[in-house]
Amino acid sequence: MTTNRTFTMIKPDAVANGHAGKILDHIIQAGYKVVALKYTHLSAEKAGEFYAVHNERPFYKDLVDFMISGPIYAAILEKDNAVEDFRKVIGATDPSKAEAGTIRNLFAKSIDANAIHGSDSDENAAIEGNFFFAENERF
Ligand code: GTP
Ligand code: MG
Repeated sequence: MTTNRTFTMIKPDAVANGHAGKILDHIIQAGYKVVALKYTHLSAEKAGEFYAVHNERPFYKDLVDFMISGPIYAAILEKDNAVEDFRKVIGATDPSKAEAGTIRNLFAKSIDANAIHGSDSDENAAIEGNFFFAENERF
């Protein structure tokens, strides 16, 4: 049963800019329950593994370098239709194309420093949640 859960990271730019609290509140106001939450700093190895699907892409090194540039918040979130609805809450990958009121529209500056991650499928939501959290860290 993973259809009602997604996984998110508040990325280093948003944490460094002091936006993490506002973003977490935005997520809760959008109807999500926080099931698990962790403040952590990814190693290059872990960030590379997390984004391994992109390892052939020209932006891969920049993406990994950015994701290890500072601490992040990782979280598992629960709500009906969690994955699809959360992609709408965060907005387009490129913040200049993100709809008004979305998290990336409000808090992101560039396609590299785009404030937040959201899983793109139920399958990846489960994989990504398991990457960060043990069963006894979920409530
Ligand atoms: P995540 O939620 O972080 O996974 O972003 P996404 O699902 O909206 O985008 P995607 O998974 O396709 O890409 C992962 C990350 O790589 C994005 O958040 C961007 O920071 C970066 N990225 C993706 N496409 C491009 C691109 O065309 N150029 C650059 N410079 N970065 C990109
Ligand atoms: Mg993605």
